[in-house]
Amino acid sequence: MTAAAALCYFPAMELAIPPLPQSSRVNASGHLEVAGCDLVSLAREYGTPFYAYDQQQIIDNCRAYVTAMSSRADDSEVIYASKAFTCLAMCQIVADEGLSLDVASGGELYIALKSWFPPERIYVHGNANSGGELSRYVRSEVGHVVIDSLDELEALDAAAAAEGRRQPVLLRITPGIEAHTHDFVQTGRLDSKFGLCLAEGVALDAVGRALAADNLELEGFHMHIGSQIFALEPYVRAIGLMADFAAECRRRHGFECRLLDVGGGLGVSYGGDDEPAGIDELAGVIVDAVREEMARADLAMPRIAVEPGRSIVANAGLTAYTIEAVKTVPGIRTFVAVDGGMSDNLRPMLYGARYEALLAERPLAEADQTVTVAGKHCESGDLLVRDQPLPDPAVGDLLVTPSTGAYGYSMASNYNGQPRPAVLFLRDGDARVVIRRESYEDLVRLHGRLD
Ligand SMILES: Cc1ncc(COP(=O)(O)O)c(C=O)c1O
Repeated sequence: MTAAAALCYFPAMELAIPPLPQSSRVNASGHLEVAGCDLVSLAREYGTPFYAYDQQQIIDNCRAYVTAMSSRADDSEVIYASKAFTCLAMCQIVADEGLSLDVASGGELYIALKSWFPPERIYVHGNANSGGELSRYVRSEVGHVVIDSLDELEALDAAAAAEGRRQPVLLRITPGIEAHTHDFVQTGRLDSKFGLCLAEGVALDAVGRALAADNLELEGFHMHIGSQIFALEPYVRAIGLMADFAAECRRRHGFECRLLDVGGGLGVSYGGDDEPAGIDELAGVIVDAVREEMARADLAMPRIAVEPGRSIVANAGLTAYTIEAVKTVPGIRTFVAVDGGMSDNLRPMLYGARYEALLAERPLAEADQTVTVAGKHCESGDLLVRDQPLPDPAVGDLLVTPSTGAYGYSMASNYNGQPRPAVLFLRDGDARVVIRRESYEDLVRLHGRLD
């Protein structure tokens, strides 16, 4: 058999494993390959653990959002939420694909500007920006600051005055909606640390203050109801409340909402029975809802912005680890311990998030043993994957957890002195190191001595 004949599409559905990057195949060596790169060879060259992304899939996801929105609305904008995953290369892709960028801190802004991301396409978020950060945003001439509190409104007005610039802003409104997702990623309900609530005129008062502020230019409103959302109906309810609010703002303050940012939140599949809506479906629901609700409230159609993070990068990425130990507790379970863990994927510990795993050397082999994949950290709860069937996992095997492209590297830490892994972008058989692996020297780079 020729090598070409041996190449086959990875039968992900058949094996009921979670979505691997779109270019995943089993190659002639029987190894898992992504974007033409053999993961086993990558492990030899770059060491483990590493994150790898299918670069084309990120690009395709960006394009899917832009097409889905622009084909439905005359005036739309797609803003990538860089908290999901950011680095210079990621910002370059986002800029090239014509998306805008959401940054949530001075640090994320710094990364964006270092990549030469156009500042006018940057939206700044955050519920506790310092005075220094606010001044930096204004000085950098970011397109919009999304104001989260009355204190921030005042501080930003003062910062803009000091910089001699009128800063365009949105107000983040908490619509008081429960999205069906994990408690920790609910952000739109009344009891939330984010935004200005509709209750008791809090948000309405903020509009009055923003309009009265000499150095702020209020353009519209922002909402974000949560993350990893499967049912789209809460978006429709929230947009209805935002339209009512916009109508009230026109009555009370004569203010016309020109820009409505409905946030991110589209869920992705991490495996099992996960059946998220698609990008196109989300865009349809959002644009229809804005059109209908604005018409109902007798308001002009604003520019519509969406702010996706996870759904652009999660399924494009995976993490590869080396198995360091296999230990059976008789009658209870077998632990497969790998060379990473909660320091590179905090989500299982933070949210009880579920992942699945496979072995890169023999992805098609019969999975005859049910194991729990344990991280290397000094926490009993550092378990990456629970009750996963694997084909006789052994020390030295390369274990892959798919769908780790969002909130993996961006939540990574140095716990237990673990250097952060490398991040590779894969395309057409080439691997590009877009973030190099940290060294032990990096761990003490910021430390000072007493003598
Ligand atoms: C304000 C804001 N916008 C957008 C996002 C992106 O959400 P997701 O990654 O679920 O699309 C988040 C993430 O929580 C957020 O807080």
